[in-house]
Amino acid sequence: MNGQRILVTGASSGLGRAACERLAQDGATVLACARREERLLELSKRWPTIEPHVLDVSDAAAVDTFCAALGPLDAAILNAGVTEVGPFTNGTAERDAQLIATNATANTHLARGLRRPLQGGRLIFVGSMAGMVPLPYQAVYSGTKAFLHHFALALREEWAGEVSVGVFAPGGIRTEMTDVAALKTLDSHLADVGEVADALLAFTASTRALSVPGGANRAAATLSRVVPRSWAAKLMERVYRED
Ligand SMILES: NC(=O)c1ccc[n+]([C@@H]2O[C@H](COP(=O)([O-])OP(=O)(O)OC[C@H]3O[C@@H](n4cnc5c(N)ncnc54)[C@H](OP(=O)(O)O)[C@@H]3O)[C@@H](O)[C@H]2O)c1
Repeated sequence: MNGQRILVTGASSGLGRAACERLAQDGATVLACARREERLLELSKRWPTIEPHVLDVSDAAAVDTFCAALGPLDAAILNAGVTEVGPFTNGTAERDAQLIATNATANTHLARGLRRPLQGGRLIFVGSMAGMVPLPYQAVYSGTKAFLHHFALALREEWAGEVSVGVFAPGGIRTEMTDVAALKTLDSHLADVGEVADALLAFTASTRALSVPGGANRAAATLSRVVPRSWAAKLMERVYRED
């Protein structure tokens, strides 16, 4: 990816941050977007080819202004995301709306704005296994990721020959997102963020439609295509309730 210009959202932490550092190491210019400016500045201080861009992806006007000013890009990795772990009943309508705005609406809005700069390039949406298998106790998150998977694969066909669209669907990763008390017992099942970032960049360099990193996740994804979704959800409910 030496010499390429690549945009990454959710660059201040976890998978996005690891991807930015690897891209900079490979010689790419990285447009690193997130809300926490101090983290972006720290990144760009360590890696001069990382440009910090403070952007709240759920702010439609800010996304429009940002996209309108962009020059050509080789790729964009739309990775920003949030979750809420716990019974749906314990959440709030405000929190649900923010989750949907960040994980779903923001990505449709960004895709629209990035079509012009990405002509001939690659657009990656970071989905999740939770977009393939319903995930009780992260019900809204799981719904947003299922939306993203369908949206990405539909757009891939509409934009074929113009922008190569793909969806990357990891299982659990050890990041700030999973560093919550409710998921502590699952820690040993979480993947290393560096390994997942390597898989994400290999996928970005390809023209493939969908990638599920990790052998066990791939087996689960294959199984999810033959087992009724209601059974898979029942199994996931038991695993999460007991943990
Ligand atoms: N961790 C997992 O187990 C796992 C599994 C499957 C898929 N994923 C997906 O992988 C992606 C990255 O997650 P992660 O695990 O790396 O989480 P993370 O460490 O919590 O990072 C989330 C990133 O999203 C950014 N973000 C959140 N809301 C934003 C907003 N409104 N505007 C701009 N940026 C925003 C955060 O930056 P600021 O707060 O600075 O804005 C942060 O950089 C997400 O899409 C997630 O759904 C994660």
